[in-house]
Amino acid sequence: MKKEGFCLERKKIEVSESEIEIQEQFIEKIRQNTSEKFFMIVTYGCQMNAHDSEKLAGMLSQMGYTETDDKSKTDLILYNTCCVRENAENRVFGNLGYLKSLKRSNKNLKIILCGCMMQQDAVVEKVKQSYKHVDIIFGTYNLHRLPQLLWTNMETNNQIIDVWAEHKEIVEDLPSIRLHSFKASTNIMYGCNNYCTYCIVPYVRGRERSRRMEDILKDIKDLVSDGVKEITLLGQNVNSYGKELQVTFATLIREINKIEGLERIRFMTSHPKDLSDELIDAIVDCEKVCRHLHLPIQSGSNAILEKMNRGYTREYYISLINKIKAKIPDMLFTTDIIVGFPSETDEDNDKTISLMKEIRFSNAYTFLYSPRSGTKATTMDGQVSEETATMRFNKLLGAIKPISNEINQGMKGSVQKVLVESLSKNDDKLLSGRLDNNLIVHFQGEKELIGNIVEVKITDCKTFYLIGERI
Ligand code: 5AD
Ligand code: SF4
Repeated sequence: MKKEGFCLERKKIEVSESEIEIQEQFIEKIRQNTSEKFFMIVTYGCQMNAHDSEKLAGMLSQMGYTETDDKSKTDLILYNTCCVRENAENRVFGNLGYLKSLKRSNKNLKIILCGCMMQQDAVVEKVKQSYKHVDIIFGTYNLHRLPQLLWTNMETNNQIIDVWAEHKEIVEDLPSIRLHSFKASTNIMYGCNNYCTYCIVPYVRGRERSRRMEDILKDIKDLVSDGVKEITLLGQNVNSYGKELQVTFATLIREINKIEGLERIRFMTSHPKDLSDELIDAIVDCEKVCRHLHLPIQSGSNAILEKMNRGYTREYYISLINKIKAKIPDMLFTTDIIVGFPSETDEDNDKTISLMKEIRFSNAYTFLYSPRSGTKATTMDGQVSEETATMRFNKLLGAIKPISNEINQGMKGSVQKVLVESLSKNDDKLLSGRLDNNLIVHFQGEKELIGNIVEVKITDCKTFYLIGERI
């Protein structure tokens, strides 16, 4: 029977170099103690979480676990959670209910929760009270401690809670299992200082911390010598990389561009207010930087942008895009939009729609505003009903789709370099790959081409993908 939760909550700990060595000892203990065992990771949210899951998978495989997608067979299931919007949280709680019955039929099943949701006191409290079948909880700052936490739980059978309030040092050299052999991501910075009024990220991912340039370069060189052709640089706000290290994101890009064998550089997410001329010039000069920029606007109305604390106006954003288009005409842009922010009117939504038409994004990721407890926007007047927000959302989508379609149409007849990523999900006789500008193309070819860059002529298109033939 489980005892009272064993709680190491909200510690302020500075991680020393030897932390990795400590964890290596626990990895070894579990490996020696473990016959063949299976793990499953369910990841919610952004690319940052997906990348954290690769590290968690790397540690689990070093501990002797093998990945499975079969819930009935797994010995360990880990939910890497997201709290940016409420529906992702609800899905996790829904799954936890189901896991209770799974645990009844497999008493040795380990259930682990980690990630952004766990940085919120109310969530941890709820799990402690109502989900006693959860074995381990940890947060965003200490995922490197999984081996130690798992070992402690195996030894004591106590519920282990280890959520840190902040993180000062960055832990390097965690093992990781990559999803693809030919493309990978690497964190260049963690956290965010912006405090957009709707956003929970600064509260759960902490203040901005940049990794040292030499660590990032070493990481990428190792990946390239391991066969990686495309690297995605990750951060909540990559444009402010290096502020505390007296180095700029533009310098980092120029250094990465020199790495021999690397073919493509992508990065996300950029904040419009920090996108410098120096960076635009670096993108122009660096042939490996892909011609795609994800630049969240969030709203086309100045009144809403101000309430969101975004730090720019609609006019600034448009002039920034025009400046980039003038220097890099083949650049495609994608964006994020929040619909139904407090005090938003139909006119504000129309301004967002007119901005869509003016900029011509190749795609826009649209979200219904979700109030997040602790953020400033939850206390603002003029909360918008779900019904009104949904109507505006649908109107906005109706404007975005034809533009995506027209941009795709404009690619017809061109010959493009494509990094072949996989068999097409809907038709395994087709391959699926990505253009430099991030558009997806399906075309006929041998699966041996996966991981290679090939030339494809674009022959047709649908709203969200292209069709081509290899030349
Ligand atoms: N409600 C809805 N969408 C949100 N985002 C961030 N916080 C919220 C929220 N509270 C969206 C923003 C951001 C993307 C990653 O998620 O558009 O760019
Ligand atoms: Fe959230 Fe704004 Fe930071 Fe993006 S820039 S992570 S939206 S606070």
